[in-house]
Amino acid sequence: MAVAGGKIDYQGGRWIVPDHPIIPFIEGDGTGADIWRASQRVFDAAVAKAFGGKRSIVWKEVLAGEKAFKATGNWLPDETLAVIREHRVAIKGPLTTPVGGGMRSLNVALRQILDLYACIRPVRWFAGVPAPVREPQKLDVVIFRENIEDVYAGIEFEAGSEKADKLRDFLIDQLGVKTLRQGSAIGIKPMSKFGSQRLVAKAIQYAIDHQRPSITLVHKGNIQKFTEGAFRDWGYQLAKERFGGQTIPEADAGSGTREAGRVLIKDRIADAMFQQVLLRPDEYSVIATSNLNGDYLSDACAAQVGGLGMAPGANVGDGYAVFEATHGTAPKYAGQDKVNPGSVILSGVMMFEEIGWSAAGKAIIAGIEGALAAKKVTYDLARQMPGATEVPTSTFADAIIAHLK
Ligand SMILES: NC(=O)c1ccc[n+]([C@@H]2O[C@H](COP(=O)([O-])OP(=O)(O)OC[C@H]3O[C@@H](n4cnc5c(N)ncnc54)[C@H](O)[C@@H]3O)[C@@H](O)[C@H]2O)c1
Repeated sequence: MAVAGGKIDYQGGRWIVPDHPIIPFIEGDGTGADIWRASQRVFDAAVAKAFGGKRSIVWKEVLAGEKAFKATGNWLPDETLAVIREHRVAIKGPLTTPVGGGMRSLNVALRQILDLYACIRPVRWFAGVPAPVREPQKLDVVIFRENIEDVYAGIEFEAGSEKADKLRDFLIDQLGVKTLRQGSAIGIKPMSKFGSQRLVAKAIQYAIDHQRPSITLVHKGNIQKFTEGAFRDWGYQLAKERFGGQTIPEADAGSGTREAGRVLIKDRIADAMFQQVLLRPDEYSVIATSNLNGDYLSDACAAQVGGLGMAPGANVGDGYAVFEATHGTAPKYAGQDKVNPGSVILSGVMMFEEIGWSAAGKAIIAGIEGALAAKKVTYDLARQMPGATEVPTSTFADAIIAHLK
């Protein structure tokens, strides 16, 4: 008999999750359908394994992308946004970005409507996954990237345009800027104390909740003092004022490791951080950074442990969260039951952790580790893993389910 399902709520900074929550999903375009079919089976099996029938998810499909366009003539129906807002937690596969203008990006729309200010990307290595570095197991970080401000705010003026020239004149005449080449394009990089501190707060809370040893504020404050430098200063200030008893700044910590149960707060300049994650990866745990730094750093870290095929992601605000694959639609493999569902499946693990169903997440991790150890993997991994058997998307999901613990 079908379970009716209830709505997830959010009160006082905590999720309130019924035993049978309704979770909207967007299957995704291209390979999305293959991936979603496999992922949903893994999710349902993991919940059954972890909670023995007491809990289950009531999946609710919402349309976006090509599937929505074919059914409704609209790439992103308002109904989809409304349902996600109503149910608060959603998960999505990759969507085609149609070439040519005229349509809203789902991610941008959701980010704005639900104020999903933290892009969270955990990056860790799974035994057996081919990686380009010698010791990929040493990298195990969770990157919190500010999702709304910085150069992504979209305030840019084209070179030679009247607005750019006006702005240049204003900067020179009114604000004392000395040199700014005539005809320059100009972009604006807004970063607020509010926006920076709420991102850092989420990262610190995560480190506390998950017993992580440290958080590193990554910034380019040596050059951009009032934006990136302020991000660092606001971060330390927030750690002291709101989490003083649970954190300790690196400057006050003797040994440089987590002190007496307190989370170590440190900061690194962005360019040095790219070296650090390669040379001393095990010294970093939770990372909080501004939008553009985080964009670069999360892809670089994902590549270090074997690429985007297995990299999950989440966009999270206060009381809203959308989990998603970090790769695209891989259209040439659509409908072939071929590609790796790992990114969506691991996004589901993040979702389970976020809503407090960690046992289901842990079961899936064990399942993935088991499938990798059995060397039954999709083509992308099989072609680089000696002795591996290439299996379809659906069989990889079967192998994960067989190894759930
Ligand atoms: N989050 C999103 O919705 C998102 C992200 C990136 C790209 N896109 C869209 O996806 C479409 C294709 O973009 P693209 O080709 O630049 O990127 P892509 O990620 O689809 O493909 C890049 C490469 O990775 C491979 N690949 C991707 N996912 C894989 C998986 N799960 N398993 C194994 N191999 C995988 C592809 O075959 C291809 O060789 C475009 O319309 C783009 O706009 C969407």
